[in-house]
Amino acid sequence: MATKYNLKQWAYAATVMAAASSQSAWAEDAHSYAKLQEVTTPHLELDLTVDFEAKQLRGTATYDLVRKSNDATTVHMDTRELTISKAEIWQDNAWQETSFELAEPHETLGQELTVSIGEATDKLRIHYATAPTASGLQWLSPEQTQSGKFPFMFSQSQPIHARSWIPIQDTPALRLTYDATVRTPAGMLAVMSADNSLDPELDGNYSFSMPQPIPPYLIAIAAGELVVKEISDNVAVFAEPYIIDDAAWEWADTPAMITATEEMYGPYRWDRYDLLVLPPSFPFGGMENPRLSFITPTVVSGDRTLINLIAHELAHSWSGNLVTNASWRDLWLNEGFTSYVENRIMESLFGERRAQMELALGYQDLLDNMERLASKDTVLNLELGTRHPDDVFSQVPYVKGQLFLVYLENKFGRETFDNFLRQYFDDFAFQSISTAEFKAYLARHLLAKNPNVVSMEQVNEWIHEPGLPADAPKPTSNAFAEVEKQMQRWLKGGQLTTQEWTTHEWLHFINNLPLDISSVNMRRLDEQFNLTQSKNAEIAHAWLKLAIVKNYEPARDRLRNYLLTIGRNKLVSPLYRELAKTPDNLKWAREVYQQAKPGYHPLTQTVNEALLYPEQ
Ligand code: BES
Ligand code: ZN
Repeated sequence: MATKYNLKQWAYAATVMAAASSQSAWAEDAHSYAKLQEVTTPHLELDLTVDFEAKQLRGTATYDLVRKSNDATTVHMDTRELTISKAEIWQDNAWQETSFELAEPHETLGQELTVSIGEATDKLRIHYATAPTASGLQWLSPEQTQSGKFPFMFSQSQPIHARSWIPIQDTPALRLTYDATVRTPAGMLAVMSADNSLDPELDGNYSFSMPQPIPPYLIAIAAGELVVKEISDNVAVFAEPYIIDDAAWEWADTPAMITATEEMYGPYRWDRYDLLVLPPSFPFGGMENPRLSFITPTVVSGDRTLINLIAHELAHSWSGNLVTNASWRDLWLNEGFTSYVENRIMESLFGERRAQMELALGYQDLLDNMERLASKDTVLNLELGTRHPDDVFSQVPYVKGQLFLVYLENKFGRETFDNFLRQYFDDFAFQSISTAEFKAYLARHLLAKNPNVVSMEQVNEWIHEPGLPADAPKPTSNAFAEVEKQMQRWLKGGQLTTQEWTTHEWLHFINNLPLDISSVNMRRLDEQFNLTQSKNAEIAHAWLKLAIVKNYEPARDRLRNYLLTIGRNKLVSPLYRELAKTPDNLKWAREVYQQAKPGYHPLTQTVNEALLYPEQ
């Protein structure tokens, strides 16, 4: 039996490898018009003016062109709502105007830009401007910032929004280096996912260089009233003045996280690792822009309990930024691996108890998510078609992907699995890979070397079948078992002993309160622990969600205020989703939403309008 099993495994691996090599990664990216088999753009030079009045970036993008096919005379790029005024090619030692064509807009993909490049040139320059509604940018007026002194702008390019601020071959299968010159009003600072200065002169003229090749979705920019505070010789925080000290305190463990990750998975290859605090309208918890992760202020909780988010964005420096998903169907290669590494970092710094609680919280989120997802959206190797990746965003690539790796770790043992991962990061460093390529690598470097432990059938079930395999890990936490015991006693009128509780225990407690909890008990909790007024954005979120379900009126004002001041979609949209369930709450939610909308990021607007105005 054993040999047969083994042969089958090998036969499968061979098939997979053949499939992977005959089909280059770009051919599988349905979300880009780029034709990397004809021409690639391995280097980009940006020269941009940040115009806050017009809510516009304006200037030029200049590309190095590499011809992959001798008869290519056009280059195909992605754009969305860009105004292209001129295209030029470098020829006979001068810039010469060339023709271009913008196709009709596609709802999710934007507009294909086709530029004639003739037969000889190796440089192209495009003059362009962005739209005030660019899906990858948010523009905030001075009144929308904490000090009110300067406006603020930032980008969020992942997954397919780089094309709304740069004409680009917007596929993660491409890797490019970039240089940039950015002009802002004097007194403001511009930063990018590149080599930021720690001692900038605020003259409104900034230049950047990103020497490591990255996928386009990692190109990032922000500008505002920013100051810098160093945490160590390789880590600093950039933030608006109001939060700089708190953020630097909150994230003091970052240097130790880098060291721990290097010990497990090899060198950090990006030089510095800095963190940028965005305004509260930043639509994500964090974004792993290389050398400068973008972070929501809602994790600056004052007690360092939410710093797994920093571990997560840092972990992307290996999984995602170093080894990159070749298309958005392969997002789990970025997020699943990163969630796994994140949890390992947390375990290494803070021990198993905390790591287990975080894993268990993620697992519960995944189960909740899967309940409302279409079955086909619960597979790891997503079936997207040309659906917008933002529309399919869920915990599946994150937590199901993570559980798959936990499963492999359990099966092969930590040492073997760590060695495998370390080698994987090394072998694919600065490359983009597809799920098929990963499977082939896994078959060869883990399954075949340790026969009869995990079969390719089992791997395929994890990667291509909906839901979770029957033998998937089911993370539990002893700390949470204690919380549940206390909850039972408390529901019968006993006291809670919460002095030792961190955010994690509170989240588990609130998320698992029985939905038939009495209003007396809601009030009893709130009076003793002040949950409605919790300054911890995650705890407040969990409580407010329950408050909606229970129509707990004392939390209404806080709920309104929460929705008006926070735009992180993961904290906002479950609340609107819950509100949309009854006609009265929906009416109320629409009023609040209309008031909040000008402060929300385009992504937060799109997602929540789908919840509140489903008929449109
Ligand atoms: N890269 C993601 C954010 C993202 C994913 C943006 C896909 C667009 C498309 C980032 O690293 C992330 O996962 N953020 C999480 C962090 C959390 C899991 C700790 C978030 O924002 O909540
Ligand atoms: Zn991530």
